[in-house]
Amino acid sequence: MEDPHPRIEPRNIQFDFAPELPVDWHSDNPAVSHFYDALSLTFPQGERFFIDSVRLFEGEIADPELRRDIKSFYAQEAIHSREHASYNALLSAHGIPVEGFNRLMEKATRWAQRMMPAKGQLAATCAYEHYTALFAESILGDPRVMSDAHPLYRDLWRWHAMEEEEHKSVAFNVYQAVAPGFLGYLRRVIVMTIATFDFMIAIPILQTWLMYKSGNLFNFKAWGKACWHLWISPGIWRHVMLGVFSYLKPGFHPDKRRVDPRVLEWRAHYRATRKREIGMHPTLFGES
Ligand SMILES: [Fe+2]
Ligand SMILES: [Fe+2]
Repeated sequence: MEDPHPRIEPRNIQFDFAPELPVDWHSDNPAVSHFYDALSLTFPQGERFFIDSVRLFEGEIADPELRRDIKSFYAQEAIHSREHASYNALLSAHGIPVEGFNRLMEKATRWAQRMMPAKGQLAATCAYEHYTALFAESILGDPRVMSDAHPLYRDLWRWHAMEEEEHKSVAFNVYQAVAPGFLGYLRRVIVMTIATFDFMIAIPILQTWLMYKSGNLFNFKAWGKACWHLWISPGIWRHVMLGVFSYLKPGFHPDKRRVDPRVLEWRAHYRATRKREIGMHPTLFGES
């Protein structure tokens, strides 16, 4: 029987990435928009990697609740992957060579899957899931992060953030079940360190590449505003980077992180609107 109140609920939402949508959809600023675009470019392939890495260990999980969570995790990530593929298709229509980037990303992912031991792949998923949960904390906990975004993109990022918040413990719980003890801890810390360098380098490079491709590489005003948005106010990148440290504690668990009460309100809102086109204009942040 279907659980009427699942802890993790995939919401099969389709966003209409129409050609008329603004290219500089956030703050009317290419550098801010391209920061989020850079994240979006990595998602279709990245989220498939997350699913594959959990699938490697699914057979070892006996706990029925965790098994149910795993299924919901697959469903959520698969839908995210699909929606970000449409998001990226619009970037392609705006002249960004997304196909070439996807081929490169696919090769890199296949190489990582060949080279990394299975538990290392799962540890990488845990590390990136911590990152996505930190982004979610900021996107849902601070109205300023998306208040100057086009409504469609704002809704997409908040929906994705909500679901990342919901399933943030799944890969970690699987990892704890299959890689307990000191060795498991050591592996996840080493992998997080590598993932942090990868993330800190890859996203700014991608953002710079997008700025170059859109003819904004030397738009210093845009860069300045983006630095302010990312590091100072609201400072989403700062929040994410500072949040990495908690992951390094031996007793870390995603559920132990303090969550802003507004994040819980978002969850209540999404639950109240389940099973129908989600009302994307909640009053929580005083938006219409
Ligand atoms: Fe996701
Ligand atoms: Fe995720």
